[in-house]
This record gives sequence, structure tokens and C-alpha cells, in this order.
Amino acid sequence: MTTETTSGTTDHYEAIGKLGASPLWRYYGELFTAEPRSKAVPHLWSYDDLRPHMLHFADALSLEEAERRVLMLVNPGMTEPPATVNSLYAGIQIILPGETAQAHRHTANAFRFIIEGEGACTTVNGERVHMSPGDLLLTPGWHWHDHYHEGDGPMMWLDGLDYPLINALEAGFFQLYDQRSQRAERPDDLSSRQFIHGRLNPLWLQPDQVNSPIGNYPWSETHKALNGIGDDATGSRYDGVVLEYSNPHTGGPVMPTISCRISRLRPGFDGAAHRHTAGTIYHVVSGEGRTEVDGTVLEWGEKDVFAVPGWTAHRHRNRSNSADAILMSYTNEPVHRALGVYREELAE
Ligand SMILES: [Fe+2]
Ligand SMILES: [Fe+2]
Repeated sequence: MTTETTSGTTDHYEAIGKLGASPLWRYYGELFTAEPRSKAVPHLWSYDDLRPHMLHFADALSLEEAERRVLMLVNPGMTEPPATVNSLYAGIQIILPGETAQAHRHTANAFRFIIEGEGACTTVNGERVHMSPGDLLLTPGWHWHDHYHEGDGPMMWLDGLDYPLINALEAGFFQLYDQRSQRAERPDDLSSRQFIHGRLNPLWLQPDQVNSPIGNYPWSETHKALNGIGDDATGSRYDGVVLEYSNPHTGGPVMPTISCRISRLRPGFDGAAHRHTAGTIYHVVSGEGRTEVDGTVLEWGEKDVFAVPGWTAHRHRNRSNSADAILMSYTNEPVHRALGVYREELAE
């Protein structure tokens, strides 16, 4: 500090500030941390607590008044701009029978994982995609999408987007369609039906190396995949029997910035602790358990959502000795890998 109080040094700080310059030596520790320090904190959003509010807003506000009708799951450590972990966002959306959520597109990549309800569709680039609980629907960047509901009762799903990353890169574009909804121009669910087997790819389609061409990964197939493995594979010591939804053309993640996964924690599963640079958002499809994240215990139940920030030690446990716990999760691991900064280690 003595040098800073030396006559004239303070003036120099003020002068360089006015010139748009800054002394690196005052920021060094902040800019080059020994290891990552996430702004996000471990956090859980209870579905049972949120659901009555979702129903209230569905009743109180039309889609014209609340477009889209979504509750953002904002991490207490990442409120400005709002995000759930680092580069990813989670929200819960509700539409009612007879409603249409307006057609639009954005450069942010998005998916939806259906939580409850039947009879709604998302139209993606002219293809109507039906939605049932447990289905994973993709709307990769710049794909037109609108939602409408022809069934009974409310329809709710988890929205996952990478807009925090796209906006940080200053690559965010958004456009409304010139009508409220798209016309169906292709046979319903064709993109899903063409790839339904998983290892038989249609050769007449141009491979898409960036985004999966599949509109919907239906729960019936996901369930079949988990059942096919049964108890015969050991699985991961961290995540149990964990499967990645993949782009059939590349075998890689469904979108360049988001890897979506489904994991089955067997009854009594007590995982090992690890940490990785990638941040993860979990949605509990079924079951009950607990996840310890850097000393914070998140007790989760069916349909809850929780955030595990990057570089935090975490371990999952299935609390039941008789029932499976099924977790859907999504992570920005593909971004870390593409940039060569992905790291992972045991955290025992
Ligand atoms: Fe959207
Ligand atoms: Fe993990």
C-alpha cells in the first residue's frame, strides 16, 4: 500500500480510470481464481409448493396477458440476469385446454420435459409433436415453435434453455411468427418416428451434426431402455444407470450446449461424491432421495427441480429401499468439453 500512498500515485489511478484503463494487480485474484467459484448456490424448487401458484396464474391470467406463462426457477445466487446454474435456465410452464402459446423462434436452444397432462402438442418447424409425461421435446436454436392444448386439465412441463450463455455471447435473436400458430406441414411426429429404433437411421436425410433431428424422445422408449438394462449393468458410481439422449447422427448430445440425461438410482443407491466444472439441473421424474452439495443437503421428491452448481462436490442417494428414483438432468458439459476446460474429480 505504501506505493499507492506515495505522492501522485492516487492521481494516476484516477487518470487511468478516466482513460478506460484499470490496474490488473488489483483484480488478479478475482480474475484468475485457483479454482472455479460458481455464483450459483445449491438450491431446490418444490413442485408441490409451486403447483398451486401455477394453477392460480393459469386461472388469473390469459396467455395474452402472460406470454409465455412460465415460472422461472431463479437461482438465489444468479438473479441478475436470472439463471438457474451458470449457462442454463429452468422454468415451469403451464397451458390450459384450448390455449395456444404463440409461435416464435430464438437462437437460444430449448427443450421441454413433460411433467403432467395429456393432449397438448408443440409444433416445431411445421411438425406437430405430441406430448405426454416423461417425453423430452427439442426445439433447437432458431426452430419455430408454438404449443397448443386440445386435452383436458392443465398441461405442465419443464422448460430448459441456454439463453444465459447465448446472451453472454451477445448472440440472442428472437422473432415472432406472423400468425399465432404454425400450420402443420409435415406428418405428425415424423421426426421421432423416423429415428424410433435408435440404431437404424434414415439414409435419405442429410445428417445434422449440430442438433438432433428428433422432435420427441418419448417416455415409452426411455422407459424401455432403462428396463432393458435392468439390474444387469453396474452403472456409474455417481449417477447410477445414467443414459444420455443423443443425436443419432453423431452419438453426441442433443444440442451443442446442452446434454440431456436420464438416470435410474436403484433402491438404496448411495452414490460416490465427485465434482465437475459443468453445472447440472435435475428434475425428479419419480422417487425420493437426497443430494448433498458442498455440505448442503437437498431433500427431493417427485417432480422437484434442483440445481448443482459447477465445481461443487455432490452425491446422490435414493432414500427408498424398495422403489427406484428416476432423475432427468441437463448439463452444460458439452460446452466445457468443446472449449477444452472440462474437469472432473473424485471428491471423497
Ligand atoms: Fe420459445
Ligand atoms: Fe455429477
